[in-house]
Amino acid sequence: MTLRYGKEFLMIPGPTNVPDEVLRAMHRPAVDIYEGPLLQTTDDCLKGISRVFRSTTGKPYIYIANGHGTWDAALSNTLSRGDKVLVLESGRFAIGWGEAAELIGIEVEILPGHWRKAVDPAALEARLRADTEGAIKAVLVVQVDTASGVLNDIPALRRAMDASGHGALLMVDCMASLGCVPFEMEAWGVDVAMAGSQKGLMSPPGLAFVVAGQKALAAHKTAGLRNSYMDWTFRDGPEHYMKYCGTPPEHLLFAFQKSLELIEEETLEGVWRRHAILAEAVRAAVEVWGCKGAMEMNILKPEDRSDSVSVICFNGVDPAPLRSFVKDVCGITIGIAIGDLAGKGIRIGHMGHVNAAMVLGTLSAMELGLRRLGIPHESGGVEAAIAVIDRALGGN
Ligand SMILES: Cc1ncc(COP(=O)(O)O)c(C=O)c1O
Repeated sequence: MTLRYGKEFLMIPGPTNVPDEVLRAMHRPAVDIYEGPLLQTTDDCLKGISRVFRSTTGKPYIYIANGHGTWDAALSNTLSRGDKVLVLESGRFAIGWGEAAELIGIEVEILPGHWRKAVDPAALEARLRADTEGAIKAVLVVQVDTASGVLNDIPALRRAMDASGHGALLMVDCMASLGCVPFEMEAWGVDVAMAGSQKGLMSPPGLAFVVAGQKALAAHKTAGLRNSYMDWTFRDGPEHYMKYCGTPPEHLLFAFQKSLELIEEETLEGVWRRHAILAEAVRAAVEVWGCKGAMEMNILKPEDRSDSVSVICFNGVDPAPLRSFVKDVCGITIGIAIGDLAGKGIRIGHMGHVNAAMVLGTLSAMELGLRRLGIPHESGGVEAAIAVIDRALGGN
């Protein structure tokens, strides 16, 4: 028996639901790439992405790439072979960025972290203080790690770097956080920030964004790893096609232009608040269900939990049947756990184009699944989620 026929919900941490308006924006003929409206679209996208990153003095770049591409772009434009970077571990993705760095000849040191905790600013400060010769050229960190569900405190990490007096660049991967949680590139003193189109930004996969602050642009002048496709200098050139190092990804740009319009209509603050409320609702449900010990939020401290993705660990219970139930019976896809948590948990993506109906629907399907499958849990998770939303709407 299945009840899945209807609008399918994609509740994974990227790619995410693309709004119908954004899909429709792509449904048009190709246009000239040398003159005409596409030049305005590029301008809108570059200005819009700077606003979303909260950068006024940084330079924005658009790549036809995914998140991995932005890692290469950030590294190759600012560093040279043999330079050292410090990777701040808090799950899977900063480690992956470090692996990409190693492959292009950068020396990588990992500041050991924990899969269930945010990066410790004091540990960063101590490590940078010990680097008296300034061997570390850049610090690499993710704002939200999509594998662990952690939210790293970027302003606190910046303060730790400042306190150490170290001059390394601060590079922040905002792939799973931009357009979901507050990020203030300029106010927080971030030197390079990156994101992809396919998560909080509600567009199809394929566009990737990098904003380079003034200090990163200065480092670019002597960077030895520059290459033709990623190169910021080439992309600053006078011709429109140079911004893309070739043919612009027209239809993805039309889509992204529309996503930016939707974000600006809701306001960034409104977007962040929606994510915060819906994430809190998910966490409230998990807390109730988890009273019987079969599941818990992966990230231990509540204040370190991301508002864009919830990673839930299962204790002594296989999460696969629950995922199958909500998909096959209810028409909702939730994410598998990855990395150290593979096979041991699930991830609920609540980022981008997601509303209360989708979150409450997902939680209801999960609670039904817990009941049907006999997974030990306390009932009332959905009620707790409703209470969170009710309070946010002004209830008691
Ligand atoms: C935090 C983070 N960084 C980087 C990536 C890599 O992005 P992509 O898969 O688009 O290459 C992901 C993907 O999920 C991510 O979550």
